[in-house]
Amino acid sequence: MSELITGQKRTARCAEFDESYVGKKVTAMGWVAVRRDMGSIIFVDLRDRTGIVQVVIDMKNVKDDFKKASHIKNEYVISVEGEVVKRSEETINNKLKTGNIEIIASSIRILSECDILPFAIEENSNVSEQTRMKYRYLDLRRPDMQRNLMLKSKISNITRNFFDKEGFIEIETPMLTKSTPEGARDYLVPSRVNPGHFYALPQSPQLFKQLLMLSGYDRYIQIARCFRDEDLRADRQPEFTQIDMELSFVDEDDVMEIQERYLKHLFKEVLNVDIKIPFLRMSYNEAMERFGSDKPDLRFGMELKNLSHIFEGCDFKVFADTIAKGGSVRAICVPGAANYTRKQIDELIEFVKVYKAKGLASFAIENGEYKSNILRFMKEDQINQVISQMNAKEGDLVLFVADKNDIVFASLGALRCEMAKRLNLINEEEYNFLWITDFPMFEYDEDDKRYYAVHHPFTAPKDEDIEYIDKDPSKVRAKAYDIILNGTELGGGSIRIHSRELQKKVFESLGFTEEQAEERFGFLLNAFKYGVPPHGGLAYGLDRLVMLMLGLDSIRDTIAFPKDKNASCQMTEAPGVVDDNQLEELSIKLDIKESEI
Ligand code: AMO
Ligand code: AMP
Repeated sequence: MSELITGQKRTARCAEFDESYVGKKVTAMGWVAVRRDMGSIIFVDLRDRTGIVQVVIDMKNVKDDFKKASHIKNEYVISVEGEVVKRSEETINNKLKTGNIEIIASSIRILSECDILPFAIEENSNVSEQTRMKYRYLDLRRPDMQRNLMLKSKISNITRNFFDKEGFIEIETPMLTKSTPEGARDYLVPSRVNPGHFYALPQSPQLFKQLLMLSGYDRYIQIARCFRDEDLRADRQPEFTQIDMELSFVDEDDVMEIQERYLKHLFKEVLNVDIKIPFLRMSYNEAMERFGSDKPDLRFGMELKNLSHIFEGCDFKVFADTIAKGGSVRAICVPGAANYTRKQIDELIEFVKVYKAKGLASFAIENGEYKSNILRFMKEDQINQVISQMNAKEGDLVLFVADKNDIVFASLGALRCEMAKRLNLINEEEYNFLWITDFPMFEYDEDDKRYYAVHHPFTAPKDEDIEYIDKDPSKVRAKAYDIILNGTELGGGSIRIHSRELQKKVFESLGFTEEQAEERFGFLLNAFKYGVPPHGGLAYGLDRLVMLMLGLDSIRDTIAFPKDKNASCQMTEAPGVVDDNQLEELSIKLDIKESEI
């Protein structure tokens, strides 16, 4: 039976009780986390999102209510009236924030009972992801999830306050809009009043924030929900939040400088960690050459080295042919892994195959001897050159991939991170920030036989590269920058094109006909007739930022109600089927068999 709280007011949250309440009559409310029955005394750990306070229910104090108390089970919601007392020396619990006091109950009320739970409400419990998601409201009651969401709220507040002080204005942009190309598929929403027409949910507020600069708002910020229909990973959700901003009359340095100050402030306030600014800047080309990735993790070494000059025309046909065809042979030197067994090397071969590498050659120095699956092809001089170029020492393992450059980079870049994990080379306490700059503006897609924008089509080319837009788009570098934290892309942005002519030219290079550009971005091109300030901006993934700041493995642990790997919600069972008449209203007919739904 549920009782009411009529006539009662909660004095404070559970973990807010402290010595200043000693001797006072108080009312506490919360969930029963633990109950210890000692016969004539029952101890209850009463919990809410602030933590736990101990309640002592003694038969002689509560009298009639004691029968009630003996029925209490875990996760019942109760209200307790009583007096706060200091605990005796021997019973002080230093692990609890409230460990030096307790509440001696004079009466209790059971506000709500609790059925048998699908899992225990405790930190780091070993429950399957599926069960957690189905009962997300219980999962969210766990102290670690509560801590994550409270910190996310704190991060949002600090962010808003910081940018407010810097003169940014928070402006909302629409959710029902037209497609903005950020490279993913759109989520579409049918329009009832415009049959056959669809809105797209925004992949980002990109075009609106640019138009706000044109309207003169100067500095904009929004904690904005974005939607992208893409394959999900541990750091991706179909629906996620950006800290999105745009500034007028700025260049790259201006945008980057303010971000560095913001991140320094945020990390100090939330984690009490001092991060050093300015952050290191590295060009895209250097990052690829040295780390095989445009989001390198610099917390460990094992840089890639190009060994093509050593193996040009060598006896190992795979290497020689790859180099002759314009590919390369590159390698990393893994410290202390010379004792890797054949089986372990085979595992690594399987690992790089995921990145389309055809194989992985190895060379180890163990007890002064060379162990290699390509030793028979290597001359003494080549061995010596490999050792010296890779700076390989006794106990080291050199791993080579020969292929087209993009495959070599992708496979060795990923292998480098995998080996660092396996060998525990990563200092988990470190926050390593890095800017990647000078991205290529366009990327050629062999399948579609056309160029795509690496960032998005509104990014400005470097002034000195504009002349190549028509002649050789692959040579054009963009005024774009990504911010990387510990090998994850935290955010990205660019200086934008603010000239109508240049914007038209870029659309052309991306293969849009004039009509197509007009149809999709006519409003932008039109707006560009009316006085556009030079502008640029950046967006962070807020959920990713929280994940990295709190050292979480999955972005799902930063989102109250996330989607699973199939972009579904286990709890509400979204997406769901809809009534025929709803479809009819939208003039939509499904081209799918009943059995396939
Ligand atoms: P971009 O596409 O790089 O840039 O996105 C910015 C940041 O958003 C985060 N992010 C995601 N987080 C979770 N799940 C996803 N599916 C997901 N996709 C992206 C990343 C990423 O760095 N309009 C531009 C920004 C600009 O140019 O100002 C944009 O959206 O952390
Ligand atoms: P094989 O002579 O085919 O047995 O190959 C010798 C070694 O070279 C094997 O360990 C292969 O995995 C490796 N290998 C094959 N192709 C490549 C490649 N493209 N890059 C690096 N190593 C390779």
